[in-house]
Amino acid sequence: ASLARFVDPLPIPPTARATEQRTHPAFPGHKLPCYRMEMRAFKARLHRDVPPTALWGYGGQFPGPTIEAMRGEPLLVEWANALPTRHFLPIDHNLHGAEKAHPEVRTVTHVHGARVPAHADGYPEEWYTPGHSRLYLYPNGQDAATLWYHDHAMGITRLNIYAGLVGTYIVRDPDELALGLPSGDYDLPLILCDRLVAQDGQLYYPVSDDPDAPWVMQCNGNLPLCNGRIFPYLEVEPRRYRFRLLNAANTSFFDLSLSHDQPFQQIASDQGLLPAPLERARIALYPAERADVVIDFAGVAGKTLQLRHQSHGILEFRVRDGGRRDTSALPAALRAVPRIDPEAAAQHRVMTLNETDDANGNALQMLLDGKRWSAPVSENPRQHSVETWSFVNLTGDAHPIHLHLVRFQLLDRRPFDLFAWNARRELKFTGPAQTPEPHEMGWKDTVRADPGMVTRIAMRFEGEPGRYVWHCHFLEHEDNEMMRPYDVLPEMP
Ligand code: C2O
Ligand code: CU
Repeated sequence: ASLARFVDPLPIPPTARATEQRTHPAFPGHKLPCYRMEMRAFKARLHRDVPPTALWGYGGQFPGPTIEAMRGEPLLVEWANALPTRHFLPIDHNLHGAEKAHPEVRTVTHVHGARVPAHADGYPEEWYTPGHSRLYLYPNGQDAATLWYHDHAMGITRLNIYAGLVGTYIVRDPDELALGLPSGDYDLPLILCDRLVAQDGQLYYPVSDDPDAPWVMQCNGNLPLCNGRIFPYLEVEPRRYRFRLLNAANTSFFDLSLSHDQPFQQIASDQGLLPAPLERARIALYPAERADVVIDFAGVAGKTLQLRHQSHGILEFRVRDGGRRDTSALPAALRAVPRIDPEAAAQHRVMTLNETDDANGNALQMLLDGKRWSAPVSENPRQHSVETWSFVNLTGDAHPIHLHLVRFQLLDRRPFDLFAWNARRELKFTGPAQTPEPHEMGWKDTVRADPGMVTRIAMRFEGEPGRYVWHCHFLEHEDNEMMRPYDVLPEMP
């Protein structure tokens, strides 16, 4: 039987509260707010008619509490692993980092999109077990953006995130606040994902038909969730709202639209505001991509509106007849996003996205530039230098590619001759470069690398020298070798 739609109110994750003020050697003489985020096992209802589901979550919630940060105001988070010692999802011990010799339950938290020193970035091998915690410093020296935090433990990230270890981390700044966009109760995260939920309410994670090698290359759910609830509804006032859309799914993409031909006004992408609001009928989000939108419910007072994925409603807005006066604004210009000049790049790197197959053509693993995680570091940009990275996609699928530490710009996507590449490793373009559409002209940290295309990005390596990672954000791929370490080297003296 299919589930009743729009019977549960949309949960809004609570704002995390600092538990204490602490000093930190990086900011002598300052007391910094410190948040304690405890990862716990718990049960919650995903839907009125579904029995309580066993989950893991930060603060015992799925999604976890929202961390609110202000540009230039550092904060500390103590990420505490208080989970049980057994995993409830199927670990594949053949994957690098998930060997039988390692404890089953390991976590390490990464704030996606944050510019943080390497030691606080949640390096996948720096996991720790239940009963332990890590104190990370977030300098917040970056522009306002919708970031998110999630687990990143080597070889089991897909399972830990699937279990519920996600939350949003919102950076604000005075420039954005001055625009008067909808704020407070009218500025809400919409964390989208999907899960396979069984009749008894429990999550299940797909497995291959080999019990000794359960890894699968993708995980698509049978039900969509919005802020951890299946088909919820939200009562809204007939005015403007800002919604921070995040695709937190393992593999699924979302193709979002509103009913009644109502458009979105997209105001931001992964790393903050676009130059100007864009009216969009549809917004597609690959895993880890974000889009902030303004929806104006003023013209639909007393009606309902649905947020849809393809043609299916996943969230219903119930618009009240009246409310407080709308004092928010939607300015015609949001901020300047100066284009990076690729000619200024110190390095142009070209890397493939590829997969290795078994004799039957089933993917065994996915690779970046033909290298496994354990191969020596090959990408080593200098701090403050500009580079372009080109992703030559040799696979049949699009992959959402994410770099830690930096924000980047999409330069172009260009079709190439796969045969010439495979035969002679020759990069032969077969058509003109396609420049990004306006919604991809903002700052990004995750980009869709399409099949048959070379996707080229440019970035300046601002941040501390150290070891970071870049990877495919399909979590199944990331866990099976589609992730590489990279080093930011100190600036040339
Ligand atoms: Cu969203 Cu390496 O992470
Ligand atoms: Cu991938």
